[in-house]
Amino acid sequence: MVTVTIKVNGETRTASVAPETTLLRLLRENFSLTGTKLGCDVGDCGACTVIVDGKPVNSCLMLAGQVDGRDVLTIEGLATIDRLHPIQKAFEDHASLQCGFCGPGIILSAKALIDENPAPTTQEIRDALGGNLCRCTGYTKMIEAIRVAARTLRDEVADQPA
Ligand code: FES
Ligand code: FES
Repeated sequence: MVTVTIKVNGETRTASVAPETTLLRLLRENFSLTGTKLGCDVGDCGACTVIVDGKPVNSCLMLAGQVDGRDVLTIEGLATIDRLHPIQKAFEDHASLQCGFCGPGIILSAKALIDENPAPTTQEIRDALGGNLCRCTGYTKMIEAIRVAARTLRDEVADQPA
């Protein structure tokens, strides 16, 4: 067994797991963070995307031991009790998801993009979603939602007192 301590959604958590345990299983099975989805389990679908130290990763391809001491953001860490994150709100407003299975991964890929590039072009959004498969909605409404969310976040920054 290996002991893994990570900061997840701002909270420090520790678990003892078998060495072959992936980050995906650590999140879902040890920490009950089931918003991170298990799709293909081989790195093809992006349903398991989370953000580690600011970068989007496929958590099914990362061992839990590799994230020891690192900072992880999952979909549960985005909204507050009374407010959706602007990306989530824009997805809701644009009906950008149907079954929703791909949603956590896609929204976190979008967040990582906007954090790094606050005004992404359509092509940059497409590229950022390149590893995230959606089987039911298609990408047009998602891309529009991400453009709107990026604008909202830029406006929020501009409105902050100096
Ligand atoms: Fe990780 Fe599909 S479950 S990429
Ligand atoms: Fe169903 Fe994307 S909304 S897979």
